[in-house]
Amino acid sequence: MKKKHCLITGGTSGLGLEFTKIFIKKDFFVHIISRNEEKLKFEIKQYSKKMKSKIFFYKTDLSEVESVIKTIKKLKKIKSIDFLINNAGVINLEKETNVNNIEKTFMTNYLSHFFITYALRKNISKGKNGKIINISSVAHKLAFLNIRDLNMETFYNGWIAYFNSKLMILLFTYKLNSIFRDVQSFAIHPGWINTNFGNNNDNIIRKFLGQVRSIFAKDPEVVAKKIFKFITSNDFNKKDFYFSIDKARKSSNSSQDKRLQNELWKKSIKFFNKYVS
Ligand SMILES: NC(=O)c1ccc[n+]([C@@H]2O[C@H](COP(=O)([O-])OP(=O)(O)OC[C@H]3O[C@@H](n4cnc5c(N)ncnc54)[C@H](OP(=O)(O)O)[C@@H]3O)[C@@H](O)[C@H]2O)c1
Repeated sequence: MKKKHCLITGGTSGLGLEFTKIFIKKDFFVHIISRNEEKLKFEIKQYSKKMKSKIFFYKTDLSEVESVIKTIKKLKKIKSIDFLINNAGVINLEKETNVNNIEKTFMTNYLSHFFITYALRKNISKGKNGKIINISSVAHKLAFLNIRDLNMETFYNGWIAYFNSKLMILLFTYKLNSIFRDVQSFAIHPGWINTNFGNNNDNIIRKFLGQVRSIFAKDPEVVAKKIFKFITSNDFNKKDFYFSIDKARKSSNSSQDKRLQNELWKKSIKFFNKYVS
């Protein structure tokens, strides 16, 4: 039987961890791209040897270009990829830049995912019915994107940086669908889920969110199961690219702006040519 491969960024916590568990149970080879293997080891310690042998961990800091490049070289050895789940995401309320002076929310949430997807595009098309799942957010509707200042040199606000990154993931999804016709790409808003999201920020918002979220937010296991069922069902209109979990939704007008999609694509290719190729 053909081996099925799934790549998940941020597969060690929250939604990504639930995807990892589901894909393992469905007998996939699961390739996880994250920083912290210890978290994963703890979560899968009850798994059988056979299940563990199907998990491959690529220690990667998605906020750093060099680290992403090293991982891409290893991932290229996977001949055929069935699912790429671009899931990892952060919000940095204080501005942080990487060694290449790229703002880290932009790099982690969007640019690293562009690099991985673009570098592996041929491996993904080889997986019959290859699919790219980009985890976005309804928060993309609050974006305030200056396409001439992706690095937010002139103005920085952590929330806006996050909203912008989720809009970029959507613009990217639309462009992927227009370019790679043999691969389907989706952008998915997972809803408000009870995860570790935002916990890297040591402030009052983190404490507040933690409390409220544990009471009101959805269980990531339930959400991941619904998304898995949906992306493996082929039960969707081929013209819909943005979903709230498994329901087609209209994304913002900016996300559907072809000029913006093209400009972002060109700028992302420039970054790719400068650093990756
Ligand atoms: N939680 C919500 O309510 C919500 C709502 C809408 C959208 N989302 C989106 O859902 C996705 C999953 O988030 P979550 O809620 O599951 O959050 P989470 O529990 O914080 O998980 C985030 C994952 O991203 C990885 N990650 C973060 N920074 C990284 C870096 N620099 N390098 C490598 N991996 C990194 C983390 O792994 P390591 O720490 O091991 O590196 C972790 O596995 C995100 O894209 C988020 O924007 C979440």
